[in-house]
Amino acid sequence: MNRSFRRARHMGVAAAAIILAVATQGRSDQQQGAAPIGDAEAGAAVFAEDCAACHQIGKGATDQVGPQLTGIFDRPAGAIEGFDYSPALQRMGADGLIWRLKTLDAFLANPVAMVSDTAMIFDGIADSPRRQDLLAFLRAHSAQPGDIPESAPTAKAILFELPPETAALVGDPEYGQYLAQECATCHQGDGSAEGIPAITGWPAPDFMAAMHAYKAKLRPHPVMQMMAGRLDDEQIAALAAYYEQIGE
Ligand code: HEC
Ligand code: HEC
Repeated sequence: MNRSFRRARHMGVAAAAIILAVATQGRSDQQQGAAPIGDAEAGAAVFAEDCAACHQIGKGATDQVGPQLTGIFDRPAGAIEGFDYSPALQRMGADGLIWRLKTLDAFLANPVAMVSDTAMIFDGIADSPRRQDLLAFLRAHSAQPGDIPESAPTAKAILFELPPETAALVGDPEYGQYLAQECATCHQGDGSAEGIPAITGWPAPDFMAAMHAYKAKLRPHPVMQMMAGRLDDEQIAALAAYYEQIGE
């Protein structure tokens, strides 16, 4: 399915949803013995502003434009029965993507880095403290923070962020073409291979973000984790430049 089609389909949907439960019911992270990742109350405001047009959360939350987000921590991607997920998100769920602190953080920073072609039309929250507050709010609506393995005191330090100098690298498309020979055994040039996603014509920054998400093992697919793991930043940038060009 084509990206702009899906975009158009979702843009038209009216923003109509209510946040059901805003308060965090006094369940502070400190009381649970987990490291605080952010301020859940400030996160409620972020949710109201950035998410509530499409998502509900809390007791009695139902699916809207987006699936309900109660208990999102430790939930496999694409797991709500009856919600019409995009093929891209279904694929990630089938690969084994589970929403945890790191994977949610990466998704909310830049949705397409985790799920290219997602039906969630949202640019992401670049501001890290704002994201941390939101994550704290989402976590307050999940299992008890103390029960979540990744809520150990070290959890905060491991969040995924591409250093700006890496994200800004401009690759050499000729070098990329050379490197892409290895990719062509699976990804056909015209992007039409059965069961393997097309990677031509992507904006280079999205392509790089996806490759770094495999490399950091945030995206679950083992073959692609291995492929990306062998590439350095410059090679990833070169491949991104090449594949962007051949899609034109
Ligand atoms: C314009 C509507 C829209 C906005 C705004 C939006 N989302 Fe979504 N969200 C969606 C849709 C649609 C999906 C399903 C995506 C798919 O199938 O690819 C989704 C999926 C998700 C998922 C994956 C759920 C699952 O079951 O796997 C999470 C997590 C999520 N959104 C969180 C958020 C958060 C947090 C915000 C606010 C920062 C937000 N979204 C803003 C529409 C939106
Ligand atoms: C052995 C087969 C194989 C090879 C070789 C391979 N890929 Fe992949 N690639 C896949 C599969 C399968 C997926 C879907 C994985 C998933 O579901 O996350 C994928 C996904 C991707 C994605 C994400 C696409 C999306 O829509 O989410 C990118 C980007 C990508 N590959 C780039 C590359 C590059 C660059 C190379 C060469 C360095 C390469 N791949 C080599 C099989 C391969």
